[in-house]
Amino acid sequence: MDLDGVRVVITGAARGTGRLLAEAFAERGAQVFLSARDLGAAEHVADAINRRGPGRADAFRCDLAVPDSVRVFAAAVAGRTSHLDVLINNGAAYIEGEDLADVSDDVIDSVMAAGGTGTVLLTKHLLPLLRASSRPDIVNMISACGEVGHRRSGAHPAFYAAKHAHAGLAEILSHRLRPEKIRVISLFPPDFVQDGPRQADSDLTARSVIDCVLFAVGQPRDCFIREFHFEQVRNPHA
Ligand SMILES: NC(=O)c1ccc[n+]([C@@H]2O[C@H](COP(=O)([O-])OP(=O)(O)OC[C@H]3O[C@@H](n4cnc5c(N)ncnc54)[C@H](OP(=O)(O)O)[C@@H]3O)[C@@H](O)[C@H]2O)c1
Repeated sequence: MDLDGVRVVITGAARGTGRLLAEAFAERGAQVFLSARDLGAAEHVADAINRRGPGRADAFRCDLAVPDSVRVFAAAVAGRTSHLDVLINNGAAYIEGEDLADVSDDVIDSVMAAGGTGTVLLTKHLLPLLRASSRPDIVNMISACGEVGHRRSGAHPAFYAAKHAHAGLAEILSHRLRPEKIRVISLFPPDFVQDGPRQADSDLTARSVIDCVLFAVGQPRDCFIREFHFEQVRNPHA
């Protein structure tokens, strides 16, 4: 797929799936604006992308849990480009815990702030740039924890709550932005592995998740794919 010149923002892109997404878009010629909480880590990924090409990358600092950081990031992107084609809301901290008391109040606050307020604010502040695009897409990396009735994960309840907030945002935006021709594409993967065999009896891999994103973004503009849901490998002992 040719993404030559397509302008993409990806949060949480210094490692894990965000990094793989940034590399996948840049490999296809996209111009990537990637962020991480640690600017040095973001710059490291951007440098690697710029050495490899053909796409280019710029690095930014953005802590989604801090509204000012989100606003500064959005303004910095607006200082580099007059339009944005794809926003990938990827950054989100994972926390484990059966019990609410398993993590501190500060951690709960930051997980909710990043997945809830921060994601809403970033989308809000980048929307003018998306509106200036001829092919605008908002991609949301949610989680099966954001599905109604999902209980299989050992994630902390605050992670579930943050992902439900993200899912609620995506749901209403898809409806409200449809008349403006802005697609809102959300993925609800179960736990997946960064690398591994891509076989029917294996866990979902990050590569396959990224292929779903590339597929949806690559569709002609009549095709508004709203959501990807995945059947998890069945535990034979369950
Ligand atoms: N891996 C899975 O099994 C799985 C399953 C379902 C959904 N997902 C979702 O897919 C996305 C990517 O997952 P992953 O596997 O790459 O996750 P990960 O390895 O846990 O990495 C989390 C990413 O989110 C970023 N992040 C955390 N808190 C942040 C904050 N306050 N502001 C900005 N960025 C923040 C991290 O950036 P720093 O480098 O700055 O820490 C990192 O890039 C996440 O939204 C995750 O919830 C993952």
